[in-house]
Amino acid sequence: FQILILISGSGSNLQALIDSVAGKRSPQISAEICTVISSSPTAYGLTRAKTANIPTQVHDLQEYYNGIPKEDKDLRKQARKKFNVDLGKIVLEIKPDLIVCAGWMLILSPSFLNPVSEAGIPIINLHPALPGQFDGIRAIERAWEAGQRGEITKGGLMIHRVIKEVDRGKPLVVKELELTKEETLEDYEKRVHENEHIAIIEGTILALEELEEKKVELPEIESLKL
Ligand code: GRF
Repeated sequence: FQILILISGSGSNLQALIDSVAGKRSPQISAEICTVISSSPTAYGLTRAKTANIPTQVHDLQEYYNGIPKEDKDLRKQARKKFNVDLGKIVLEIKPDLIVCAGWMLILSPSFLNPVSEAGIPIINLHPALPGQFDGIRAIERAWEAGQRGEITKGGLMIHRVIKEVDRGKPLVVKELELTKEETLEDYEKRVHENEHIAIIEGTILALEELEEKKVELPEIESLKL
């Protein structure tokens, strides 16, 4: 199988996948990473991919925003739509068997999900919070802060299938982490990332097993708002 990985940042989760594929980290993923696409031209994950001789591409939303004033909400919305449409075209040209979002920081809209789903390509995503706990951005900080306020005693992370609703697909892997008031944000964040690296390997293996058994879960085709 061929895996396409989407990143936006340092790529420590990408590195875990690279090491697993190379047999340097267990359990071993028996598939290839065919391409890494980064939403940022300066993501260190690009360096990690190049070091591993994996083809890379940059798909930068800022390029689509070029020349559009911040306050022009409608033009920026159209730019985001084109960003998603074009990313879908790039992915369909590569035609991977599985897409793994490993620290991908942008929302994948139906303009991307529809063609990818029609092509039968499943997508999984790493989200550093428990199912339904803290969807969206800054999940690690928000969980830690809630722990500090004594509102929750458990944080964690998951690998889930991507559907239209952000961070809401059925989980493949869930790792719960105790939250204590004594722990600093940095120390909690460190524990989250260590567990992400294990979870993303396990989640990818489970998704590949579903491909083997032809039991993949695909985002339902969302009628595009005109
Ligand atoms: C992870 O916490 C991920 O959940 C979040 O950003 C971090 C990715 O780190 N989206 P890396 O780029 O894999 O090092």
